[in-house]
Amino acid sequence: MSNQIVVVLDFGGQYKELIARRVRECGVCSVILPGNLPLEELRARSPIGVILTGGPDSVYRDGAPRCDPALFELGVPVLGICYGLQLMTYTLGGEVTPCAVSEYGRTEMTVKKSCALFRGLAEQQIGLMSHTDQVSRLPEGFISAASTKNCPNAAIACQERKLYGVQFHPEVENTPNGTEMIRNFLYRVCGAAGDYSMEDYEQRMIAQIREQVGEEHVLLGLSGGVDSSVCAALLAKALPGRVHAIFVDHGLMRKNEGDEVEAAFSGRELDFIRVNAEERFLNKLRGVTEPERKRKLIGEEFVRVFEEESRRLGTIRFLAQGTIYPDVIESGAWNSAAIKSHHNVGGLPKDMSFTGLVEPLRDLFKDEVRALGRQLGLSRRFVDRQPFPGPGLAVRVIGEVTKEKLDILREADAIFREEMRRSRCRADQYFAVLTDTRSVGVMGDFRTYGWTVALRAVKTTDFMTCEYARLSHSLLGRTASRIVNEVRGVSRVVYDVTGKPPATIEWE
Ligand code: XMP
Repeated sequence: MSNQIVVVLDFGGQYKELIARRVRECGVCSVILPGNLPLEELRARSPIGVILTGGPDSVYRDGAPRCDPALFELGVPVLGICYGLQLMTYTLGGEVTPCAVSEYGRTEMTVKKSCALFRGLAEQQIGLMSHTDQVSRLPEGFISAASTKNCPNAAIACQERKLYGVQFHPEVENTPNGTEMIRNFLYRVCGAAGDYSMEDYEQRMIAQIREQVGEEHVLLGLSGGVDSSVCAALLAKALPGRVHAIFVDHGLMRKNEGDEVEAAFSGRELDFIRVNAEERFLNKLRGVTEPERKRKLIGEEFVRVFEEESRRLGTIRFLAQGTIYPDVIESGAWNSAAIKSHHNVGGLPKDMSFTGLVEPLRDLFKDEVRALGRQLGLSRRFVDRQPFPGPGLAVRVIGEVTKEKLDILREADAIFREEMRRSRCRADQYFAVLTDTRSVGVMGDFRTYGWTVALRAVKTTDFMTCEYARLSHSLLGRTASRIVNEVRGVSRVVYDVTGKPPATIEWE
């Protein structure tokens, strides 16, 4: 717990977690704290460096967030990003004014290789710009370290005092060498030792969980998805024997999935409670065809099962959830855009009497969660799984959901997944859908009249938009012929070539 630490001071920018994450990626522990943190508290943490985030404000506005001016006198290296750069400039007596031409998007810039931030990089770089104010006069002792066509001070530096600022965003992927620039700041300016790793994170989290929970027990809603599974494995290590994980098997899982989840947790010091509730869910879904109605019914039934089980366990004050950082930002968007009700199976009943929420993965991005899961001994196949909707196959069986249709879909989907694994084609998410269309076929000398299966495979990074994956015709052909031959009741297979927008990834 004696890692070197970099403090990220938050001025309201949307990328603060990404900055903290890049620092971790570079092997340095990072913590995000409010921009107006009292200097004493900052000093108490003995950071090796401080990063000031961006923010939506203008430094001249009354009430714009400020930092203690003495921050720049501590002798601790500081990197200001966007608003952070402007704040540093303003505080140290330089000038910030509105740009004649605002810059948005990827912008070409020329950097000074003598500046520590750009050591080892070419003179021509791309930086993601997003600003309407810019530095028009440098504070004393500073030089311009990068410029663009419209912004003469795209980066500034006072190397003697180890103060740096960049107008662009080095933390985003659209600044291709941004991580290198952050690494330069950490290693060349702050003298980082690179003593931080996922093992440290695990240890820190275990200590934090123990401190929060004390001697008590914790309840966890385990969906079998990556996040709640990693959360469960971490909790089991932190609180052996005191974690009760409720896994509601609603019968809407993929082939063998329920058993795989169970197997992943056998042998761990965890009270794994599998509730086989297939019949309950199928009864609820009988005769229901409208997608939103299906989602709502499943969500409600899940809560009911969860409540019943937790009541059986007696009073447990702590509820754990596998919330990860993108959920924190996306949940707003997901909930507000009423396109689909994204019910997470880990979702909790609102009126339960928990007094503490344990969310150890809240700061992590998905790939960090996967890395932690592997470290905790969950199998690679398990942690690298694709996203799977909370309502499960109910939103992949179009129209009424029945056991028979679910079984058909499970078989077809398993074949598609197996063929994808064997092939060299890559997609970020892929699955089969059982449409509610039947069509005529011929097998041997007989006429058949079976269901149409649709295959869906998409390329995406954020799952908010996607393109269909250009799978090879031989893969598609092989999959189609296997499905029609091996799965009774299917007579036709089609491939979905729609992007999102205008379609969504799931069919319902
Ligand atoms: P759509 O269909 O909205 O899906 O383009 C985007 C991503 O979200 C997944 N998805 C869900 N995930 N609960 C979840 O946790 C849900 O109800 C849900 N519905 C869709 C979908 O698989 C895709 O990755």
